[in-house]
Amino acid sequence: MDLIVNKSTYLSNTINTFRDFVKNEKVYKQINVIEEIDQAVNIVKTVLDDCNIELINKIESDIVLSMNMVSGELQQVIINLVNNAKDVLIENKIKNPWVKIELSNTPNLLKISIEDNGGGVPTEIRSRIFEPYFTTKHQSQGTGLGLHICYKIIVESMQGTLKLENTDNGANFLIELPHN
Ligand SMILES: Nc1ncnc2c1ncn2[C@@H]1O[C@H](COP(=O)(O)OP(=O)(O)OP(=O)(O)O)[C@@H](O)[C@H]1O
Ligand SMILES: [Mg+2]
Repeated sequence: MDLIVNKSTYLSNTINTFRDFVKNEKVYKQINVIEEIDQAVNIVKTVLDDCNIELINKIESDIVLSMNMVSGELQQVIINLVNNAKDVLIENKIKNPWVKIELSNTPNLLKISIEDNGGGVPTEIRSRIFEPYFTTKHQSQGTGLGLHICYKIIVESMQGTLKLENTDNGANFLIELPHN
């Protein structure tokens, strides 16, 4: 029951976040970043569990950091990135699939990285993945808006950067958020 209530609240919040996002009515407030990230991780954990994908959680809970941001937006980014990882891990039928979420903080920069062992983004499409409507998935599977929205949230809403690096394992999406 708790799970159902949590998920429904999340879905309801998602609709609000998306509506405000589209309307550009953003309400900024001081938010505990670790709590915000934890909530996103809890949501994706269930999805990854169902798909037998290991979640390697490298979030140190002793980071205390409040940032001025729009509630729900950073969660959307994390959920989108993990969902993309899940899709590629299933599509490529990866053995022992995993998604790793890492966090590190310096006096003025928070870094979040989300890596998977799905093989990475093919070189020929790397320059296009943040474009709206760019997708390699069937139209019933993807809209191609996920990464575009992530980019807009991180860069425009949060004044940060979002970059893709391919690693030996797969794709690694690196978020950097400046803070005081
Ligand atoms: N972790 C990843 N590994 C490999 N390719 C990826 C990864 N994440 C994204 N991509 C590629 O980038 C494309 C664009 O991603 P994006 O999230 O914008 O759209 P989508 O996942 O196809 O659809 P949507 O997110 O709207 O449901 C994907 O179709 C996929 O080809
Ligand atoms: Mg996506």
